[in-house]
Amino acid sequence: MCGITGCIVREGDVANILYNSLKRLEYRGYDSAGISTIYDNKLIVKKDVGKIDEIHSKLNFLDMRGNLGIAHTRWATHGAPSKVNAHPHLDCEEKIAVVHNGVLENFLELRQELEARKHIFRSKTDTEVIAHLIEEYLKIGKNLSEAVLESVRKLRGSFAIAVIYTGEPDKIVVARNESPLVIGLAKDMKLIASDVAALIEYTKEVIFLQNRDLSIVTPEKVEIIQIDTGIKIDRKSMELNWTLDMATKSGFPHFLLKEIYEQPHTIREALRIQEKYLDLLTEFLDRGREIFLVASGTSHNACIVGSYMFSKLARLTTYPVIASEFIENYGSSIGIDTVIFALSQSGETADVLTALDYARYRAATIIGLTNVLGSTLTRIARAYILQNAGPEIGVAATKTFTSQLTVLALLALRLARKRGKISQNEMDEFQDELRRLPNLVENVIKLSEKPIAELSKEAARFSSIFFLGRGISYATALEARLKVMELSYIPCIAYPAGESKHGPISVIEEGYPVFFIAPNDNTRKHVIGNVMEMKARGAKIYCLGDEGDRELRELSDWYLGLPSVHELLSPIIYVIPFQLLAYYMTIEKGLDPDKPRNLAKSVTVL
Ligand code: G6P
Repeated sequence: MCGITGCIVREGDVANILYNSLKRLEYRGYDSAGISTIYDNKLIVKKDVGKIDEIHSKLNFLDMRGNLGIAHTRWATHGAPSKVNAHPHLDCEEKIAVVHNGVLENFLELRQELEARKHIFRSKTDTEVIAHLIEEYLKIGKNLSEAVLESVRKLRGSFAIAVIYTGEPDKIVVARNESPLVIGLAKDMKLIASDVAALIEYTKEVIFLQNRDLSIVTPEKVEIIQIDTGIKIDRKSMELNWTLDMATKSGFPHFLLKEIYEQPHTIREALRIQEKYLDLLTEFLDRGREIFLVASGTSHNACIVGSYMFSKLARLTTYPVIASEFIENYGSSIGIDTVIFALSQSGETADVLTALDYARYRAATIIGLTNVLGSTLTRIARAYILQNAGPEIGVAATKTFTSQLTVLALLALRLARKRGKISQNEMDEFQDELRRLPNLVENVIKLSEKPIAELSKEAARFSSIFFLGRGISYATALEARLKVMELSYIPCIAYPAGESKHGPISVIEEGYPVFFIAPNDNTRKHVIGNVMEMKARGAKIYCLGDEGDRELRELSDWYLGLPSVHELLSPIIYVIPFQLLAYYMTIEKGLDPDKPRNLAKSVTVL
């Protein structure tokens, strides 16, 4: 997730506004930044790696002249954080500047076509193709807005772009697909940005562009065209009464809730991961004599889900291990044939890095999955995948968990195909289910928020809670427990439902709350048995199950019906109500959902 912004005024310079707006967007990503303006019919570009203020103290953004400009703060996805990869990106003749937020799926094809037509690329980013594509269309006589329109029609993937061109220094052309874009309206001045935070200081009147809108922005007016039809349309502006703090959270009261809501988008982005990276990791996973999935916290729970996916889909045995236990438990027996697949949102967790250091010393192969390009994990792994979820500000992991699971599912499917372990039909069915995920998650957020908010009033008063699930839902139970416990400070227990009779059941007394995770899969009939055992001892049963499951609904004291989904993807669907529950319980208890006590987002000590 990057942040883009732009500004055009009738008179004066915009550098100061761009710099301010950029700083408001820094929370969206902060590995490099840049600004470009047009002055005297030339592009001025200042960009570098680092935080905005560090770059400013080196390059001084504020002395840039020009009444229009665009700016970008980057969270690297394609190409490491570096000066050349920082935005804006230019065409061959340095007349066009482009900033982009999103991920392009077909940039390699486009880049090859453009290189064959003698375009010179300077960066490793997907964005640069846009500048060269626009250049192509300008060469054949199109004007800037036509050239941008033709170019974006060729792009597959997500984008919010802003373009300026020295040949038409009276406008900024912007376009969006899936990535957000908002236009701020003021007298003789217009602003564009990834979100309202960047422009709320200058105006409260805004137009939110819709998917596949293109807009031509001048100091006086805003014209909007639908990308697919080329037809001009009217989009009503609205008056926002947001504070700056609300704007940074896109109107949500907390980052945690915002990030829960971002999941349809972040899952979509994870589904866009390039095949070559999936192939590379698949190759390593297939080659290992033994494979350990090493991580901490929520990432460890993702590993447990992954171990079910790899086993059931690709018939590959993997061992999920808590990073801080790895050396003591397996350190002495690993060697050159061992593959360690490390999962770490931050790529910096000390427990994980220590395990990896040890494994490297024993000549094991390290591969990784992380959300942060340039993190230590990306430097020490032989191969890695970036999950493209954008910065996560809430300390409790939400969107990065479901995007980890999405990547693991993609890998399991690749591996199944490579190993020839499942039928074409099964693979196609799984692929279709993956495609449905973003919409399903969106529905689940919608349908569960109200009943969960209601339930949280009661749940916030519990003194302890049980979470039970069988099969892959055991992993969901672990993550549900972690979310609820770390945010509400209520001690919680999670167990494989089948194991609960071997000890934990003695805790149960009249009214004790037990949550069951019971999708309609092979484990369901045994889960019903476990529900009966708990009920018989007076437990109060809260159950999340299939929306059509009448029997479970009747057995439960409280029931939330969720849409049917492939059993291996059920954790992605079933964890959402628990994220919401944890959030609403903190609100009930008057706690801070973004910063639970004693915890840190990235723990860099052992
Ligand atoms: C900390 C965070 C957790 C996170 C864990 C692992 O404990 O509070 O939310 O799951 O670290 O972090 P990682 O960045 O390695 O995924």
